[in-house]
Amino acid sequence: MWNILRFDELDSTNAYAKRNSSLLTDHTVIVAQTQTAGRGRLDRKWLSQKGGLYFSLLLKPSQTGFLPNLTQLMALSVCQTAQNLGANAWLKWPNDVLADGKKLCGILSQAVTGKDGFEALVLGCGVNVRQEDLNAAGQPAVSLHTLGIETNEESVLQTLLETFSAGYENVLQRGFETIRPDYLARFPYLGREVRVKNGAEEIRGTAETISPEGKLKLHTPRGFMEISIGDMMV
Ligand code: BTN
Repeated sequence: MWNILRFDELDSTNAYAKRNSSLLTDHTVIVAQTQTAGRGRLDRKWLSQKGGLYFSLLLKPSQTGFLPNLTQLMALSVCQTAQNLGANAWLKWPNDVLADGKKLCGILSQAVTGKDGFEALVLGCGVNVRQEDLNAAGQPAVSLHTLGIETNEESVLQTLLETFSAGYENVLQRGFETIRPDYLARFPYLGREVRVKNGAEEIRGTAETISPEGKLKLHTPRGFMEISIGDMMV
């Protein structure tokens, strides 16, 4: 199902996928052992030393109604994979995977558009696997190794692709509702006060639920609000 392209080093697997999108087929995986210009959300730098798993999926689905939910499926797949390895991992909406209160994985999805509109989705994922020192990550981070779990990037990638593939068609056809119970079971913030930042705007409220569309529903002093994107802080 997946065509895997492996590199020792790339600037960024997302950048490579975007540059070569028209030449690459649907379901191509680009993996690099290191990245010299790994990027995170909000154009942050993503530390990409050896020992981490850095990959991007290039997807060219004919249906595009539920693309943001594919990012949530990837986060869920990483969380399930880490839990099955013994990590006490959980999800922070919309697509962070944490363990020990620190970041285990980050996901950056980017659309490739051309003159006829949407051409491809690049789903980039960085999982901390064997790194020993993540002090330069720019944010509190853990690896499976620092959690006491010994595995390797290839094994995590294979399990992750299997898990993601199992949910892919359902999410593509019917969206977040197909993974909602599994997602909610790993989202420990319900009933807790959270803040969500989207650009300059910050919304505070109690996390009520995640809607069937995958939006975060908050109970705020101004009433209920459903939020589609943002950075959730606790
Ligand atoms: C985040 O900010 O949480 C998202 C981080 C995404 C990092 C991955 S590593 C593989 C792919 N290539 C990139 O340059 N970024 C993503």
